[in-house]
Amino acid sequence: METSPKEVARLIKEKGQVVAFTGAGISVESGIPAFRGGQGLWEKYDPMEYAHISSFLTEPEKVWCMLREMGETILKAAPSGAHKALGALEKAGLLSAVITQNVDGLHQMAGNTNVIEYHGSHRRLICPTCSKTGPFTDEVLSVMPFPVCERCGTALKPDVVFFGEGIPVAAMARADQEATSCKIMLIIGTSGVVYPAADIPFMASRMGAKIVEINVSPTPFTSAITHHFLGGGASEAMAAILDDLGLAGV
Ligand code: APR
Repeated sequence: METSPKEVARLIKEKGQVVAFTGAGISVESGIPAFRGGQGLWEKYDPMEYAHISSFLTEPEKVWCMLREMGETILKAAPSGAHKALGALEKAGLLSAVITQNVDGLHQMAGNTNVIEYHGSHRRLICPTCSKTGPFTDEVLSVMPFPVCERCGTALKPDVVFFGEGIPVAAMARADQEATSCKIMLIIGTSGVVYPAADIPFMASRMGAKIVEINVSPTPFTSAITHHFLGGGASEAMAAILDDLGLAGV
């Protein structure tokens, strides 16, 4: 199960057609806290009180306290080495897509062009009533008690998927397509406990893809479907793989 970056590089060279499936762990090194575990956001904010759509619709002022904090952290963040490595893999023609649960937009900033935002994006605002959208900018952070829709006066929310909301249909269809046609699924920095997202690596595995996982600790995927596990930080592991692929510095 435990493997080496050299072995993963050999596999990528042999098969190509990599699809990455990422979670909050890949952005921890960009200064954005994960959701679970010691420093996790959900340790500070109960997700059923602050991240469920019914809480947002009934208590927008309260929920915006957390959204403002997340927004500030995300707008300050820059791609980590691991984000950039996925950009380099795409540039080298080895990676076809990134399916991410993250809402920070860092994959696109790192150069990936086929990014599927399974849980939406915190870099966009949307009106829950009339679906009008707009950018989430620094200015939004200082609008008190929260930004409202200029068209219908409803409290605006970041265009992210709250608990109790469905996954965007287009994102789900694209993710299924990529997961069922890849040769290698590279899972980076996710606890694999939130569905339906966590079913994506299982879909790839059912179609015969090789499963490579990078995480500082094992997850439910590790014992169930992972062929190659690299224990440790995402950027260090990805840098070693790029090195063995001869792509360091791309
Ligand atoms: N490198 C690699 N993995 C890391 C690192 C790191 N530097 N730091 C943390 N991790 C791992 C943790 O061990 C954990 O398995 O990243 C994972 C983060 O897990 P979560 O916080 O649960 O985040 P995620 O899996 O993305 O959550 C899924 O849950 O709350 C919802 O909508 C939210 O998209 C999110 C979903």
